[in-house]
Amino acid sequence: MIKKAFIFDLDGVIVDTAKYHYLAWKKIAEELNIDFTLEHNELLKGVSRVRSLDIILELGQIEASQEDKNKWLFQKNEDYLSYLVDIDQSEILPGVLPILKYLKEQNQAIALGSASKNARPILEKTGIMPYFDAIVDGNDVSNAKPDPEVFLIAAQLLGVLPEDAIVFEDSVAGVQAANIGKMTSIGIGEEAILYQAKYIFKDFTHIETSFIASLIK
Ligand code: BG6
Ligand code: MG
Repeated sequence: MIKKAFIFDLDGVIVDTAKYHYLAWKKIAEELNIDFTLEHNELLKGVSRVRSLDIILELGQIEASQEDKNKWLFQKNEDYLSYLVDIDQSEILPGVLPILKYLKEQNQAIALGSASKNARPILEKTGIMPYFDAIVDGNDVSNAKPDPEVFLIAAQLLGVLPEDAIVFEDSVAGVQAANIGKMTSIGIGEEAILYQAKYIFKDFTHIETSFIASLIK
């Protein structure tokens, strides 16, 4: 049996924090009089903070100085962090813990592959840090998803070839990153959005351990 690497995105895959990113960006967009819908928000998922702001400004056709951009980036993060103050295990999405436990029992390598610079405190607060053999986050990469850098580093840290890595993602950019990296992409969310993924599940409660076992074989 070849050891596989199971790489998890964080926001919207492990924890229900994607909604907080959305709320914080929506506030900035409203201040700037930019119409920012849930559909627009799909473009921001998996994408770095800096790139997210650029996308919002492009939507509103606004050109801004670096000083203003820095101010909004700071404001967005402060607002986002205010939602995280009291988070605990209950923020973990349904079905995630059983899968993490199963992978541990099966001696599989597990990594985090997230664009977020807030990943570590979230893993600590929700108590799931011990499951991860490697953590790669927004502080470790220079290229944002759909560039596969974050996942390639994760696989390398786990000592597993990209072809033997499986990536769980809720974002289009993340699914594309996994595909470009020649990894097995598993989309978590809507098929209409994540159709480029090799497998798609609505959420982790729909993933049977027998399916995971078939990936390990
Ligand atoms: C990704 C989210 O996980 O992290 C994006 O999907 C977010 O919405 C990005 O912009 C960066 O996160 P942070 O916490 O560094 O602002
Ligand atoms: Mg995500």
